[in-house]
Amino acid sequence: MPTHYRRDGDVALLEIDNPPVNALDLQVRVGLDAGLRCAADDPAVKAVVLCGARACFPAGADINEVASGAAFHSPILLELQARMETLGKPIVAAIEGAALGGGFELALTCHARIAAPEARVGLPEVKLGLIPGSGGTQRFTRLAGPAAALEAITSGAQLAATRALAIGLIDAIASDTVRAAVQWARRLAGGASLPALAREAKLAVPEPDLFAAFRAAHARAFRGQLAPWRIVDAIEAACTRPALEGFQLERQWYLECRESPQRKALMHVFHAERAARRVLPAGSQVAPLPIERVGVVGAGTMGAGIAMCFANAGIDVTLLDVSREAVALGLERIGALYDESLERGKLSGEQAEAARARIRGAVEYSALGDVDMAVEAVFEDPALKCQVFERLDRSTPPRAILASNTSTLDIDRLAARTRRPQQVVGTHFFSPAHVMKLMENVRGRASSPQTLATVMALARRLGKIAVLAGNCDGFIGNRMLQYYGAEAERLLEEGATPEQIDGVIEAFGFAMGPLAMRDLAGNDVGWAIRRNRALPADERWSPILERMAAQGRLGRKSGRGFYLYEGRKRRSDPQVLALICAVSRELGIERREIGEAEILARLLHPLINEGAKLLAEGIAARAGDIDVVYIHGYGFPAYKGGPMYWAEQEGLAKVIDTLERLAPSHGARWQPCAYLRAAAARGGWECLTR
Ligand code: COA
Repeated sequence: MPTHYRRDGDVALLEIDNPPVNALDLQVRVGLDAGLRCAADDPAVKAVVLCGARACFPAGADINEVASGAAFHSPILLELQARMETLGKPIVAAIEGAALGGGFELALTCHARIAAPEARVGLPEVKLGLIPGSGGTQRFTRLAGPAAALEAITSGAQLAATRALAIGLIDAIASDTVRAAVQWARRLAGGASLPALAREAKLAVPEPDLFAAFRAAHARAFRGQLAPWRIVDAIEAACTRPALEGFQLERQWYLECRESPQRKALMHVFHAERAARRVLPAGSQVAPLPIERVGVVGAGTMGAGIAMCFANAGIDVTLLDVSREAVALGLERIGALYDESLERGKLSGEQAEAARARIRGAVEYSALGDVDMAVEAVFEDPALKCQVFERLDRSTPPRAILASNTSTLDIDRLAARTRRPQQVVGTHFFSPAHVMKLMENVRGRASSPQTLATVMALARRLGKIAVLAGNCDGFIGNRMLQYYGAEAERLLEEGATPEQIDGVIEAFGFAMGPLAMRDLAGNDVGWAIRRNRALPADERWSPILERMAAQGRLGRKSGRGFYLYEGRKRRSDPQVLALICAVSRELGIERREIGEAEILARLLHPLINEGAKLLAEGIAARAGDIDVVYIHGYGFPAYKGGPMYWAEQEGLAKVIDTLERLAPSHGARWQPCAYLRAAAARGGWECLTR
């Protein structure tokens, strides 16, 4: 049974035991219902404690039941909550591990909440395109106030126990949590009356413009999405409507969100992120190697960010570069980034200090004599990288894994420069490395299962979302990006402006359009990478990027690129348009008005066709892996599920039609690949990869 009922004197313990995360599926709800009835009917029971087995309070409703509709089979969570609130006996939640979503809504229904010091609580539904649907927004707001509720529920944050205590969400923190909860429950039972429930708590009148100001401040971040706006509405309703109405509105908006395509897309992403971790055959028993000391070669922007990722996860780092000046500059850069993290409240002073102390600089490879792994993050120059790998092979212990942060180059070529190709792998971090969530790990021809298991486990330890790609030019992310970026330049040549192109892509939901992204990465870097790459005979690169680089329009770092920059603010530059028009003239292209629909189709379809080729070649193992890469590495809107998911929603047959329509005038790469045709015929990507 997924729930256990036992007695500790006059207190009934109701324990939820449904591995792995004690999700509140139908069987659990049936068990809870029975347990609550038992406790109500037994006169010897004076109070109830609700807890989770394996030191884990429920992490929510069962996601699969929410999708299938089984979450609506009686007893639903709302019915259990009604039973709890009318039981007539105090109920105390003993929170260990993570009390999330429906789990935390259950805890909020109790008369008191006692949490373990390392426990976390939160309402992360927004990450699944949902709002809490069982009173979460209403009770949270009543206990912690609307400002804290807005911040926590629209972000889906998991709050530490200390924070939850400070804002009134829990009543106490105790190490022996269940025992403390039993004592608390007994004390409440001995009181003259039951303590007030969260739903009865009185709300202070919120600041007059709290909601308007919050909506305005988050308009850009929430654009195009349903759930965050509905959460704000629900919290406002808690403050402004009669209690019953607030609860009813929340439920109505929960049901609206559940029906939305955004919820379906975000649940796809949740499952895709977890599926991406499975890189070895099922049942494979390979244990990852422990990684406690690493070397990072190259103290530039990437190297510094990567060093921080390791240090933040408690791993000692030696940051190596060719000169003392380069190392000093790298350490300075790291210091500045830690100061920034502190200012933004991402780390406490203590955490930042401890992490900083884990990074030391070096100029000699001999300093890497005791590392478990080395990550090369030098300039994207094949000869230089080969040299670094030779030196790493000579100076690190034979057990050490050697990884390259290359974003495009051949891992096998680097592995061939070592005597341990089985321990060579790609670990492609995204810039800024200490912020971006994606880690695109790359499997070389000889990479051993243990090496792969180690870098995938390492990514989790660093708090990254990892995908394993096969070895090819550009791997998953940059190979697809190549044609997306090239198409943006073709559109410029044909008549579009940078503002138009970026505007369409940003309105679609991307964090940034392709030209703004080029400016961020550096047009000189983009051009240098392009020069190293082979192009099919019938393709050509637009000369625009090269000219931008040649004119010193490097992007944000030089204050001008496709736009003019003041800090992060961009504005149009008429000279850029003049440069683009000159290119059109030279190429004999008559500029024309290009509509938004064409811009969107021309930018998204090359991604999908190339993605299908990656699946066909086995570079990506699953369509979902590609979605994860694009969402976490390239700003594709998660609420649209990623490019491959988006293509399925559009209909693969329609995608093929569009490609075929554009192929005659736009070149061979627009020919739908065989894999895409097969997926369309068989009913989706999964039918081919399963
Ligand atoms: N319902 C059903 N399954 C769930 C689940 C849920 N609410 N939460 C997690 N799982 C499953 C995962 O799919 C995964 O399954 P798998 O091993 O078959 O891939 C397994 O539990 C472990 O989850 P994972 O995320 O890999 O573990 P973690 O330790 O990294 O994180 C959580 C644990 C609970 C923090 C994380 O899973 C999470 O955020 N879950 C969603 C919470 C949520 O949104 N609740 C509201 C639901 S409406």
